[in-house]
Amino acid sequence: MTGNTVHATFDIYRFDPTHDAQPRYQRYELDLPPHTPILTAILKIRAEADPTLTARYSCRSAICGSCAMQVNGKSRLACETQIGPELARDGRIVLEPMRNQKVLRDLVVDQEPFWRRYDEIRPHLILDPTKPMPEGKENPMTPTEVERFRETPRCIACAACYSACPAVEADPEFPGPMALAKLYRFVVDPRDQAHQDRLVRIQTGGLWLCLRCHLCTEACPKDVRPSERIRDLKEMAIAVQGGTEAGSRHAIGFKENIRERGLLNEMKLVRQTSGLGGLVGQAGQGMRMMRKKPEILKRPHPIEQLDEVEKIYEALDRKEAPP
Ligand code: FES
Repeated sequence: MTGNTVHATFDIYRFDPTHDAQPRYQRYELDLPPHTPILTAILKIRAEADPTLTARYSCRSAICGSCAMQVNGKSRLACETQIGPELARDGRIVLEPMRNQKVLRDLVVDQEPFWRRYDEIRPHLILDPTKPMPEGKENPMTPTEVERFRETPRCIACAACYSACPAVEADPEFPGPMALAKLYRFVVDPRDQAHQDRLVRIQTGGLWLCLRCHLCTEACPKDVRPSERIRDLKEMAIAVQGGTEAGSRHAIGFKENIRERGLLNEMKLVRQTSGLGGLVGQAGQGMRMMRKKPEILKRPHPIEQLDEVEKIYEALDRKEAPP
């Protein structure tokens, strides 16, 4: 550190698919004040060292979501992430494009799949065509109704959650955390007439592919908490349809299973999730598991103080905080 600047090393992902066979990392070194936003550093590199370095940005105020990228392995907004804390923690700054999206060039990715998945959830109010709103009149919600989705309007569609999501990486059918959080916003809107239809559709539209890892919530720069909204959607989907999908049957089975004995009965859970046919279908995997862990064949003994587990369930049934 000299004066009020720090020596910053940037290793930046470079790739131009029209010319490069492989991506590479290019190093740039700059002396900058520690509060410098990463986006400002990128623009300085571009202006003074390398005009070919490509990044996307617009507002420079953490509003538009355009500048999201991987900063030292985490999804971040480059315009609000300062270099000082990153250097203090990791000693250098590695910049990479967002994950789960095709790289167009350097730090810019193709967001078409992200926006297509958003479009598919029909992100707008669906009203009953037989009951048009009286002309010139508002259709307001109560403060309590608005409170149910107070976090989702904060979303700036930066795709940080989409980039961090292992379910998106594993299965292109998964709509992604942002699309599901937006879907939630319309499902709980009392003016929306497609509430049930939305829940029924999403049950087979990828809802249960969510792995409950909460990486989306950790990545979100606006505290939208997409994983919590996905959890709410799952609960509502079960309330509307019950256990119609393997995912919902698994969730219901898991809950009953733990309530019964305080421990997971894995064989029973497979049967609850996939039925007898599923048990037969997974026989090969089951045999391998049994060889490694023969105790899964035994029904677990109820744990001591099972009554304490029951108290938690009863509190949850009453929608109270567990004791
Ligand atoms: S440039 Fe708009 S959010 Fe960073």
